[in-house]
Amino acid sequence: MAMQSPTERDAWSGKLGFVLAAAGSAIGLGNIWRFPYMAGEGGGGAFVFIYLVCVLTIGVPVLFAELSIGRATERNPIGAFKKLAPGSWWPALGALGVFTGFAILAFYAVIAGWTVGYFWMALTGTFGPDVDAAASGEIFTSFIGTAGPAVGLTGFFLIVTALVVRRGISGGIERAAKILMPVLLGVLFLLLIRALTLPGAGAGLEYLLRPDLSEVTPTVVVLALGQALFSMSLGMGAMITYGSYFPKKDSLPFAGTAVALADMGIALLAGLVIFPALFSAGLDPSGGPGLVFVVLPTVFAQMPFGGFFATLFFASLAIAALTSTISLMEVVVAYLVDDREWPRKKAATMVAIGCFVLAVPSALSQGANPYLSTFLGETWLDIQNIIWGNYGLSIGAILICLFVGFRWGTDKMLDFVELGGNPLPGRGLFGFMVKFVCPLAIGVVLAFIIVTGQYF
Ligand code: PFF
Repeated sequence: MAMQSPTERDAWSGKLGFVLAAAGSAIGLGNIWRFPYMAGEGGGGAFVFIYLVCVLTIGVPVLFAELSIGRATERNPIGAFKKLAPGSWWPALGALGVFTGFAILAFYAVIAGWTVGYFWMALTGTFGPDVDAAASGEIFTSFIGTAGPAVGLTGFFLIVTALVVRRGISGGIERAAKILMPVLLGVLFLLLIRALTLPGAGAGLEYLLRPDLSEVTPTVVVLALGQALFSMSLGMGAMITYGSYFPKKDSLPFAGTAVALADMGIALLAGLVIFPALFSAGLDPSGGPGLVFVVLPTVFAQMPFGGFFATLFFASLAIAALTSTISLMEVVVAYLVDDREWPRKKAATMVAIGCFVLAVPSALSQGANPYLSTFLGETWLDIQNIIWGNYGLSIGAILICLFVGFRWGTDKMLDFVELGGNPLPGRGLFGFMVKFVCPLAIGVVLAFIIVTGQYF
């Protein structure tokens, strides 16, 4: 295959393609699986309120910082820092990002695999009216604790992801996002109508939307900021990579804002589906990570046409996860294609294989293998989330802000955000946020998780 020169590099066909693909990256398990249980643990409305504040004040500036680095360099994270700070140690930050992407993919794909299993179980009528809380818990534990499906579905998800990534940016990732994102939105709206028309749905709405500020604790703030980083795919260069394919002639401020709003909107939409359904069934919202996989099936079991809605719900979860695994894989593939000059197809195949190998211990750590299930007192999968999802993303995000603030310069960042038209309102404030407020705020979160051992 002929080598691509920078000018021939693949790109989004336009703003819409970028918005759908980047929103696809942002919208994932983080929105539909993680956000509701975090909100349930963080007091409902109190968490949601703080989360929205974190997205707007911290998430959005970091998002534009990443997008502008990509746009300025047209490179993957490692190549981007090599270009902007040659001969320095900054490319190591890119390497941290690429490896974090690889490592997150290796546990994210395991949970994504569960969504496929649950889709199948819902489709084949597993969640019938006799599924109560105990039965649902057993279904979950035995499903994730059985080696065959856990490993097999992880592999399946990685294969599907690689099949999209190998087709490139406009013909693969963008095309998939253009089909999958509208389907996701449609399915969630259908589920919303179902949830809001359940008896007693109002209590769920109130729980989610009425913040009780007395519930705001340092833990809630840390969970909310961590959730904002994870949910917006920040801190590891996914948005550097997606920004690198953004056409120079198009304007970025609106497109970037649309991505942030879409991410927030879908998290809220997922909450508006899940909490009214939970409250209507009289169930506890603080169910933790099992909320969607254990508690929700019991809600579907009681609902007229519950099997149909359960199937739709788990399909939406799998779709959301797929557009995110695509972006995680693309970060690594972009590095191999840009800097190592590998053909894209080979890169996607090799990353999928490598990731699968790394994912097997996580897949086996949910009960299939006792050693991996209690490694250092946690499951291997949880440890991966702590190392890469918590430390990797927060350290990455802090350093990206410091790079833009103190090495590259916030003026350059803002110039590349504004390239193509539409000035960014509040330029000075934006620069100040990226240079001082964001690294400080994320630094406090990092210090908090180190000191308390409470992770997001
Ligand atoms: N944003 C994704 C989600 O909310 O599920 C997860 C994710 C994707 C994190 C891509 C980081 C990333 F680079």
